Amino acid sequence: MILSVDDGKINQVLNNLIGNAIKYSYPESKITIRVFKEDAQVVTQVIDEGQGIPEKEIEGLFNPFKRASVQPTSGETSHGLGLAIVKKIIEGHNGRVGVTSKSGKGSVFYFTLPIG
Ligand SMILES: Nc1ncnc2c1ncn2[C@@H]1O[C@H](COP(=O)(O)OP(=O)(O)OP(=O)(O)O)[C@@H](O)[C@H]1O
Ligand SMILES: [Mg+2]
Repeated sequence: MILSVDDGKINQVLNNLIGNAIKYSYPESKITIRVFKEDAQVVTQVIDEGQGIPEKEIEGLFNPFKRASVQPTSGETSHGLGLAIVKKIIEGHNGRVGVTSKSGKGSVFYFTLPIG
C-alpha cells in the first residue's frame, strides 16, 4: 500500500488534531488514534472524550478564524486557525476532513488520504 504525502504537512495535521483533543479535554481523559483502510482511502480518526461541540456550531468549523463556544481547559490560546490549516493540507492531498461530535461526550475528527 502506497501513500504519497508530504510527511511534514501530515505531521502538522496530526499535531493540530491531537493538540485540539488535548486542549479541549480535561486532564487524564483518554484520546484514541485509529488508522484504517476503507476502500481506496486510509482513514485517520482522532477520538477524544472531552467537551464535545454543540451541533449547531459544527457547520463552518474548518473555516479560518471560526471558533466554537468550547474553550480550552488549561488556559491555552485559541486563534481558530488549526482546523482551517488541516482542511487546506488534506484537500491539497485530495483527501477529505470531517467531524462528528456530541456536546459533553467528546468528538471524532477524521481525515482521509487516497491510496496510490
Ligand atoms: N477536539 C475538540 N473538542 C471540542 N472542541 C473543539 C475540538 N477541536 C476544535 N474545537 C473547537 O473548534 C474551534 C476551532 O478549532 P481550531 O483548531 O481551528 O482553532 P483553535 O484551537 O481555537 O486555535 P488554533 O488551533 O489556531 O490555536 C475551537 O476554537 C474549539 O471551539
Ligand atoms: Mg486548534
